[in-house]
Amino acid sequence: MMSAEESARIHAGGPQIEGKFWLIANPCCGDEDGMTSATGSNRSMGLVVWLTGLSASGKSTLANALAAVLRAEGQTVVVLDGDLLRAGLCRDLGFSESDRMENVRRAGAVAALLAQSGVICIAALISPFASSRDAVRKQVPAGRFLEVFVDAPLELCEKRDPKGLYARARRGEIPTFTGVSSPYEPPAAAECVVRTGEIPIQEATDLILARIRAKG
Ligand SMILES: Nc1ncnc2c1ncn2[C@@H]1O[C@H](COP(=O)(O)OP(=O)(O)O)[C@@H](O)[C@H]1O
Ligand SMILES: [Mg+2]
Repeated sequence: MMSAEESARIHAGGPQIEGKFWLIANPCCGDEDGMTSATGSNRSMGLVVWLTGLSASGKSTLANALAAVLRAEGQTVVVLDGDLLRAGLCRDLGFSESDRMENVRRAGAVAALLAQSGVICIAALISPFASSRDAVRKQVPAGRFLEVFVDAPLELCEKRDPKGLYARARRGEIPTFTGVSSPYEPPAAAECVVRTGEIPIQEATDLILARIRAKG
């Protein structure tokens, strides 16, 4: 059990939140940005892999494929999937512009915390607004945020329509559906672009893995 004194000391020297909670030193790790292990190696450096794209572009498919490969290598991986987040952490949110931004803000905050603890966090969210994605990027140390544009044309996504959502949106049953009645802002400078209409799942996964490995 932690003594009251120790607890007070830790809290006194604790989080200095000034919009960038990455400045919080992680006691589990070694240095002030919390990204290097106590042994000085960078083996525990976390990473946020942020998959953005239209519904049915392939985000969840690729997130799970990536996670499977990385876990088989012994890495600790957490997938934050938009659909699952909306069923729990974000279940109070709808699909207005401000709710979509709040949805991404929460997911980004969790992703940054996980990465700070040395986890590879793979987020699969439509995350339609560039400003929201950039805000997440700012919470993660330079080089530890990998934005992946899962790029598939709207017509193809609509044809795939694995959950029948585009059909419902076209029938007017979903009032603000990304790509149909709500905007999607493609990333201007994503670290990785995978055109899932042009390459198979395996190749798309390998492309992203190569970018992850390049980060070390
Ligand atoms: N190259 C590819 N990459 C990813 N998904 C693909 C690809 N080709 C076909 N698909 C299919 O597209 C669908 C994408 O669905 P999903 O991963 O749930 O999309 P999202 O999470 O972006 O809404 C899946 O049925 C998947 O099998
Ligand atoms: Mg999905």
